[in-house]
Amino acid sequence: MPGGNTRSVIHVPPFPLTIVRGEGARLTDADGHVYVDFLGEYTAGLYGHSHPVILEAIREALGDGMTFGGPNRYEAVLAEAICTRFPSVELVRFCNSGTEANLLALSLARAATGKPAVMVFEGGYHGSVFYFVTGAGSPINVPFPFVVGRYNDADAAAQLIAEHAHELAAVIVEPLQGTGGVIPGERGFLQVLRDATAARDLLLVFDEVMTSRLSTGGLQRILGIPPDLTTFGKYLGGGLAFGAFGGRADLMSRFDPSRRDALRHAGTFNNAVLTMAAGAAGLTRVYTSAEVDRLNGLGDRLRDRLNAFATRRDLPFLATGYGSLVGLHFTRGPVRSAADVPAASELRALLHLHLLERGYSYARRGFVALCLPLGETEIDGFAEAVETFLTDHSGPVRD
Ligand SMILES: Cc1ncc(COP(=O)(O)O)c(C=O)c1O
Repeated sequence: MPGGNTRSVIHVPPFPLTIVRGEGARLTDADGHVYVDFLGEYTAGLYGHSHPVILEAIREALGDGMTFGGPNRYEAVLAEAICTRFPSVELVRFCNSGTEANLLALSLARAATGKPAVMVFEGGYHGSVFYFVTGAGSPINVPFPFVVGRYNDADAAAQLIAEHAHELAAVIVEPLQGTGGVIPGERGFLQVLRDATAARDLLLVFDEVMTSRLSTGGLQRILGIPPDLTTFGKYLGGGLAFGAFGGRADLMSRFDPSRRDALRHAGTFNNAVLTMAAGAAGLTRVYTSAEVDRLNGLGDRLRDRLNAFATRRDLPFLATGYGSLVGLHFTRGPVRSAADVPAASELRALLHLHLLERGYSYARRGFVALCLPLGETEIDGFAEAVETFLTDHSGPVRD
């Protein structure tokens, strides 16, 4: 593997920790060190590492075999659970990753509208080949024509949509930018995207790969803004490889194989038995409305405590996000778009190493995704470890 790595985001200098075991909210590395998991596998690990309901579902499915080459008894259960939770999703199809979900949703939008271009936002991340977090995007992005807007700038977005409506198939947006800095999209901005796309012949795609966890119906439910298509991934597969895209029946029904003009959507593992079983068990039996609220409450507790601490000490440090997704930034803020996110710094690396040393793992770029086995004790322990860092290093933090 180049650089010993097969997943860029988990590389950190001097070297990443190799994890050999996970249990509840705890991870053990190859040297036997134990960490409380505040990364939650970038949101895919919502259920923690050994949730009994998830494990039981996987074991039960495994007992009956796992590769059939035909429909299985779990996929319709998971499809129904998703469509029930997300009313804008009238029909859904499964795939294997969030990247694939976005590729398919945007390809559908291009086929449905007959137009080639896609509008995205600076700081946006929609998968390996849809990377807009820094500068001009990635050279290995898919070769779609992209129009790039500024996140949370409603007027500029409305103008760009008007200017490019003739070539735009869709606007794709994370209703909260995750990778880009855990930056909530403002309601007014997202509503303008809804109105401007509806007024013209183009689709609004919400990438809820990370944010679907923030209510029982994702951020679209909280905002009251229904997109035309939604993309999913991460924890919805119960912790196994997963992706899904869905939305308006008139669009999605184009994949109905009984139609003579059906669009083909293949994928050997689209209905992988273990994923379907684990995902269905998680959604129908574990991630209830009460658990959504509890987890979001823990995120609020962490954010509020750290922000109160930074304000009291007059430190340039800000915890952003919504509910169970938290971003940590060395700035006074506000953080409304990519331009407000401080560049990677030694301070960021130091905070990461400080927390690892105290037994807390999260992503060095300042990304925290809570998982269900966490409780107030762990939240307070993490917060205290951050506060110790800010106190011990207040000089460099202020510089
Ligand atoms: C918002 C968003 N979209 C898409 C993806 C890609 O998902 P996957 O890693 O499953 O391809 C991610 C992954 O982090 C994401 O955060």
